[in-house]
Amino acid sequence: MATRGSFSNRLGFVLAAAGSAVGLGNIWKFPFEVALGGGAAFVLMYLLFCFLLCFPVMVTEVTIGRKTQKNPVGAFTALGFKNWRFIGVLGLVAGVVILSFYNVIAGWAFGYFVEMASGNFAVSQNFGAFTSDWVKVGLYAIVFMFFTAFFVSKGVSGGIERLAKILMPSLIVMILILVGYSFTLPNAMEGVKFYLIPDVSAINIGTIGGALRQAFFSLSLGMGALITYGSYLSKNDNIVSSSAFITLADVGIAFIAGLMIFPLVAYNNGGDMSMVQSDQAGPGLIFITLPGVFETLGPGLGAFIGAFFFLLLSFAALTSTVSLLEVPVSYAVDELRMRRKPAVIVVAIIIFVVGIPSLLANGASDFFGTAFKLPRSSDFLSLVAGLADIMLLFGGFLIVSFAAFIWKKHNLHEEIASGYEGYENTFVKKGISFLITFLCPFILAILFVLVLLDNFFGIALI
Ligand code: PHE
Repeated sequence: MATRGSFSNRLGFVLAAAGSAVGLGNIWKFPFEVALGGGAAFVLMYLLFCFLLCFPVMVTEVTIGRKTQKNPVGAFTALGFKNWRFIGVLGLVAGVVILSFYNVIAGWAFGYFVEMASGNFAVSQNFGAFTSDWVKVGLYAIVFMFFTAFFVSKGVSGGIERLAKILMPSLIVMILILVGYSFTLPNAMEGVKFYLIPDVSAINIGTIGGALRQAFFSLSLGMGALITYGSYLSKNDNIVSSSAFITLADVGIAFIAGLMIFPLVAYNNGGDMSMVQSDQAGPGLIFITLPGVFETLGPGLGAFIGAFFFLLLSFAALTSTVSLLEVPVSYAVDELRMRRKPAVIVVAIIIFVVGIPSLLANGASDFFGTAFKLPRSSDFLSLVAGLADIMLLFGGFLIVSFAAFIWKKHNLHEEIASGYEGYENTFVKKGISFLITFLCPFILAILFVLVLLDNFFGIALI
């Protein structure tokens, strides 16, 4: 296996996987999904889903990856179930779709860094003009894809691990400082209340579906990213505790990102949280509201903090884009017998091209910006983002169901036991059995159907 590369130690795996999980999903998407989903009730559902439904999927993915030491497609063949390879193929497609639009948003974040660092602090005052400038944003997106390709071509331990080691802690510290600052602003508590005091009566399929989609997306589940990373994990490592750490880190960072943003929203609007579902609070939240607050720090300090924040955000995005590109690349290397470098170049170019309509969807083209009206999307980018979310849910459902009923749970337990001393007699084993063979497959199946009907057909059954 030496030629495939592996993580240098358990910390390397945990950091890389946490780096995959922590990204734009936590800092850009989570706060605006909370805003659209009505606040604290959404947060509550999100937390429940992360721990009860997503954590078992994560354990399953990592276990399949480590058992087979293969990419998500090859893994099913290696387990002896060639007919189930389609799950891996679906994952591959989901990865390509996600990276195609994710790279555009990452390009925005990176563009904000470059603009602010070079003195153009005003970029955030006209976010619409910025995203419509497709040549400029396209260039930022190309540069970003280039960085991603560069790290993926270096292989797992060379690039990804090292990147995550320095950057994740810096990002956490920066967000915590901003949380501290935002709490000192007038009306901050109105934002905190919106974020933390749930109105349970407001829960409906929109909230539930949104929270479930967000949980899968944020934890990088359902497409085999963690099968791939698990395939580089050593047999001596404890899968359960590693997965628990990754889940906690991801949820924790999303949570503090919310604590940072909502007081700022309240401050900006004089304590009135009713506008939180407006445009400004949508995907533009961290690109408009947040920089607006940096401005109050004065031009010099504001621009400095702003540039630094978007630099860290770009890095967080990079550890995620790297994991997204790694999936199709590891497939091309293992199954199509391509060399790593050419595989990286070909796949990166394909994904960039697939992303061009997403690049044009925020102002540059009327067609891509408005012609994709579905109950929960109107432009091309939100359409593919919604589609990708659904694919992740479906993928997650298929992966646990496969492990529980086709591969069979005793095989799963046997692999988990390697690296986990005394696993056989633990309560953890019973818990995982219950979640994987009962709770996850059934609840996911039901929720998947409900979300599908709601998102694409506008039928809200609950
Ligand atoms: N979890 C990443 C984020 O939150 C996005 C991602 C999704 C990465 C799926 C890999 C696979 O930004």
